[in-house]
Amino acid sequence: MSDSDHGDRYAASLAALTAAERVIPTGTQTFSKSPLHLPRGHAPHFLEEGRGGRVRDIDGNEYVDLMAALLAVMLGYRDPDVDAAIRDQLGRGISFSLATRLEGTLAERLADILPSAEMVRFFKNGSDATAAAVRVARAATGRDRVVAIGYHGWQDWYIGATTRRKGVPAAVAALTERVPYNDFATLEAAFDTHPDGIAAVIMEPVHGEEPAPGYLAGVRELAHRHGAVLVFDEIITGCRIAAGGAQAHYGVTPDLTCLGKALGNGMPLSVLAGRRDLMAEFDDIFVSGTFGGESLSLAAGIAVLDKIAGEPVIPALWGTGRSLTSALREAAAAHGLADVVRVGGPAPMQGVTFADHPNAAADAIRTLYVTEMLARGVLTTGALNVMYAHDRDDVSRVAAAFDGAFERLARELRRPGLEKRLSCPLIRPVFSVRGE
Ligand SMILES: Cc1ncc(COP(=O)(O)O)c(C=O)c1O
Repeated sequence: MSDSDHGDRYAASLAALTAAERVIPTGTQTFSKSPLHLPRGHAPHFLEEGRGGRVRDIDGNEYVDLMAALLAVMLGYRDPDVDAAIRDQLGRGISFSLATRLEGTLAERLADILPSAEMVRFFKNGSDATAAAVRVARAATGRDRVVAIGYHGWQDWYIGATTRRKGVPAAVAALTERVPYNDFATLEAAFDTHPDGIAAVIMEPVHGEEPAPGYLAGVRELAHRHGAVLVFDEIITGCRIAAGGAQAHYGVTPDLTCLGKALGNGMPLSVLAGRRDLMAEFDDIFVSGTFGGESLSLAAGIAVLDKIAGEPVIPALWGTGRSLTSALREAAAAHGLADVVRVGGPAPMQGVTFADHPNAAADAIRTLYVTEMLARGVLTTGALNVMYAHDRDDVSRVAAAFDGAFERLARELRRPGLEKRLSCPLIRPVFSVRGE
């Protein structure tokens, strides 16, 4: 594989990245959009337009977008109904000196569909909502320790427990313990060590894979037996795998829930919702933000819920996701890669991973896969994040890309040394927000 494989396809992206890196650390605001996650020189780094399920980069290349803005865009780009709601509100104003009624309207709508929601607060980022959940749980229990299962954002309380802990006081880092997903025994051990010290178990109800039978209910029972608050971080599952999130889908209701991403269809909106007695802690703690009630995002959130209620959004996400899984499995089998390519997670938000092969390590295989999918007009770094706007043409294009990418991959795996033949650095993140 040589640089000439992709000619000047990404020339503008590469130039813009070089310029951005001079004035913006890592060239971007979001870790998962950074050059660390993309094969430099063989990938777009900047997009300028989206419509429906597709986006265009600054070199003019078009892609079926399977990143879906890191799951922040669920309906599709420029959804006409959400955009109309935003425009309508824009005609009245964005941020005001007092609250607007949009806050109560959206809170009531969420309380109607989200099993755990009796009261609701709004924020801008997922990290705001998870930090607020931890604050509430600590206030309610009078305890300091937190057990985290999954990824929960950039704040000290969480990131201090990862390998990216630089800058976090050791005293803070020591209060959070990370436990692997679907690993009940390790969670029990954490409670054995601190039977009366854990304020909250905060977890992604789905993390790469789906919960093992009884796992979520078991976590809930264990947390409650020890007086800890159970928080579901549904920043990515909320409004996506079901209108009422993973808690509705799997039938386990937490005490507190964090939402974000899909609810705003691209607008910055996140939520902490939960039991009335716990949410009452907000009367005594201090959690406040200038933009919590920003009205364009709230109007977008209401429009998203209207759309989920009025159209078969969620079934469509499952259907499209399943079509992608079938296409992927068919293409992998056709090229003899069934043992190398894996797909996991619920259909609306699956991820593709790779196993080591005698002739190449998984990282090299993934790097080649990503470059080949990008070259064939599919934007992905592994995710199969579907949007309501993805249509049959989009699925066909992705299916053709799987076929072409796996054909190339199978050819490359016939002899050793794939890593040396790649002309870009391996995509081997030092820290993966989803996996590490
Ligand atoms: C499960 C989960 N929790 C929290 C966050 C943090 O959200 P944000 O990046 O909006 O702060 C994310 C972001 O990807 C997430 O996936």
